[in-house]
Amino acid sequence: MIVCICNAIDEDELRTAARAGAPCPRSAYAHLGCEAQCGTCLCFAQEIIEKERAALLRVDSQAA
Ligand code: FES
Repeated sequence: MIVCICNAIDEDELRTAARAGAPCPRSAYAHLGCEAQCGTCLCFAQEIIEKERAALLRVDSQAA
């Protein structure tokens, strides 16, 4: 599913950027080689990033 229409960023790309350490949409977009344009997607993108990072922390804590 496309998250950011301006940059054609889909959910999988955003999750990959979050797993690579991007804590917010702007850093995730920079990781993907672009930047926010209209800003419409930022709240939804932030939600996806937070869920992905929370899931990553749960996996890490279970492995420890
Ligand atoms: S939809 Fe993402 S910057 Fe416009």
